Amino acid sequence: MTFFKIFAFLLMTVSIYSYVGQLVPQFEEHPPVKKVITVATSAAELAAIGEELVQVKGGCLICHKVTDVGNDRGPDLRQAAGKAATRKQGMSAETYLLESLIKPEVFTVPGFPQMMPPALQPPANFNRAEVKAVIAYLQTLGGAEVTVKIETADIPVVKEVDATSPVIALESPWSHEGVRLGLVILAFNLVMLAVLAIAGRRKTS
Ligand code: HEC
Repeated sequence: MTFFKIFAFLLMTVSIYSYVGQLVPQFEEHPPVKKVITVATSAAELAAIGEELVQVKGGCLICHKVTDVGNDRGPDLRQAAGKAATRKQGMSAETYLLESLIKPEVFTVPGFPQMMPPALQPPANFNRAEVKAVIAYLQTLGGAEVTVKIETADIPVVKEVDATSPVIALESPWSHEGVRLGLVILAFNLVMLAVLAIAGRRKTS
């Protein structure tokens, strides 16, 4: 009888713990939301993704600037789109920008050293869709019209694990910290209860 009373009490305690755990705001670390580029991504979205790529993943601001403050190792990127059409005779602005990112060694802007790392390789390590997003951003930045179009071939094949596992992890109630904590407490208490029960039986016999 006592055993069941204790057990009922435990269940109640654990339920309360779990419930309170659910209420506490979550501070779980989630990987940053990956902005997926598709053929349907709008020019404005593409430019926004490109801006973040230039500032964070690309590390472009080590050498360039997009505002008045920044570095002058490379040309001011606010002018890049505007000057792009004039850099190489017979080459369109978009093609020039593409080349200057993927193969910067082919053409060196006069007055600057040849030191820019190709964007498809580390440190930037972009894929082609990301390069195009950056071009969309440079065009927006320069007040030009966004001309880049994402094609299926630009988009890297995503491994299935990447696409599904985080979703399952987020939706599963077992991933909730409160529930996990509750289960750990439940398991701990059950073990304690079993120990007590065994000890009690030994004493009486
Ligand atoms: C190590 C310094 C360095 C880094 C990092 C770098 N660049 Fe450059 N970039 C340069 C230099 C120097 C030039 C000019 C010489 C040349 O054309 O190669 C240049 C040229 C360019 C041009 C051509 C500009 C024009 O006016 O014709 C573009 C566009 C550009 N960079 C974009 C980027 C982007 C986007 C990134 C980030 C992915 C980046 N750069 C990272 C140094 C760098």
